[in-house]
Amino acid sequence: MKSLRQRIVLLLILAIVTVVGLATFAASRVLQPPPQDDRIDRLARQLMVLVAFAEKDPQAARAAGLVLRDTPQTGDFSDRMMSERLSAAFHRAGSAVEAQVNLQNEPHRATASLYLGPERWLVTELNDFGPPPGGWIVLAGWGFLIVLGAACVSIFAAAKIIRPLQLLQDSVGRVGPDGTLPHIEETGSGEIRATAQAINRLSARLKTAMESRMRLVAAAGHDLRTPMTRMRLRAEFITDEVDRQKWLSDLEELDQIADSAIRLVREEVNDDKAEKVELGSMLCELVEELRLLGHPAALAERQTVTVSAAPLALKRALRNLVINAATHGGGASVRLAVDDNHAIVSITDEGPGIPENLMEQVFEPFFRVDAARRKAVPGAGLGLAIAREIFERFGGSITIANRRPHGLEQTIRLLRA
Ligand SMILES: Nc1ncnc2c1ncn2[C@@H]1O[C@H](COP(=O)(O)OP(=O)(O)OP(=O)(O)O)[C@@H](O)[C@H]1O
Ligand SMILES: [Mg+2]
Repeated sequence: MKSLRQRIVLLLILAIVTVVGLATFAASRVLQPPPQDDRIDRLARQLMVLVAFAEKDPQAARAAGLVLRDTPQTGDFSDRMMSERLSAAFHRAGSAVEAQVNLQNEPHRATASLYLGPERWLVTELNDFGPPPGGWIVLAGWGFLIVLGAACVSIFAAAKIIRPLQLLQDSVGRVGPDGTLPHIEETGSGEIRATAQAINRLSARLKTAMESRMRLVAAAGHDLRTPMTRMRLRAEFITDEVDRQKWLSDLEELDQIADSAIRLVREEVNDDKAEKVELGSMLCELVEELRLLGHPAALAERQTVTVSAAPLALKRALRNLVINAATHGGGASVRLAVDDNHAIVSITDEGPGIPENLMEQVFEPFFRVDAARRKAVPGAGLGLAIAREIFERFGGSITIANRRPHGLEQTIRLLRA
């Protein structure tokens, strides 16, 4: 019972059934018929009149319709309890008559055989003292109707109570890749309107914050360019060859970082139109291109499958991942498979992998795993952030997992076009 809606429904059903159950119990107590003993005493007194009549003048009694027999009536069941209670009632009324009560198999028919003397019995029909016909079925139907009614009311009430939460859950679930929430209609009851307004306000603030972050990154990347060009010029005049090379390579790295930052921002605001892309040949071209640049990469398996994405952006994203496997992982092996709905690209390497606790952080912009590795492979820590941005924009996803005994597997799923 995990969902709040189910808990509320169950609680409401319990509350309603308990209240109605208690009310029914109280009503049945208040509206009870007189106690059974009273009724049996009255019956015994009436029967005593018949007994007296039958004993005094059996002939006349028979003529009046009373049944006088040598043997008691035999029924389908003898009701011992009722027999004892009726006999006790006779004794209370000062008579020694013994009674035998029999139940017939037909519903609610009983006869009493009253002992008048050896081989003399008065047999008469009795009123029914049992519960009303079909008592248990009526009670079960009554209970069922209460539970059914309570369930309907509870489900409706729970849906109403949960509505603001549902609204929150729906809109948070639809957060776009740019971190903004969809606009929600501000209608309905007070609480729902308040929730919708709060979500819309949050969405507007998030949008402003995202935009200003992007402007800041883009401006910083852009503005760094001019002083870096001046520094590069000055570095050219350094006479010590080793020193000059160090300056130039540091400046080159700075340049790349500024470039990647601008590219990330560009991806976030990009709305390139998606078109059909044949993924097999794109991967083939990409691997060839990277091999020419000296990266150890191979396409181990390919299929022909089309996906819907902006080709340049998709290639950029895949390139970032293959380069990661080739540089951080020492060699990239690329596979393209398909299932019913997806094209699945898997890029594996046999490098050191990524510590499990940093698996999510490596997708953060400017995050790189450790200082020792940073020196070996220059970069800004933006490749994975840019790649994820692009895949998600086209409805895809990327996951990474360490391999045994070592290495990393990057898996991309894209919807087939
Ligand atoms: N295949 C891999 N094997 C081991 N570590 C990896 C692998 N891919 C990524 N990483 C780790 O994740 C970090 C983030 O990767 P990301 O691609 O975002 O940045 P980067 O490669 O450092 O720089 P760049 O912006 O040039 O791509 C890397 O610095 C590296 O530490
Ligand atoms: Mg990278």
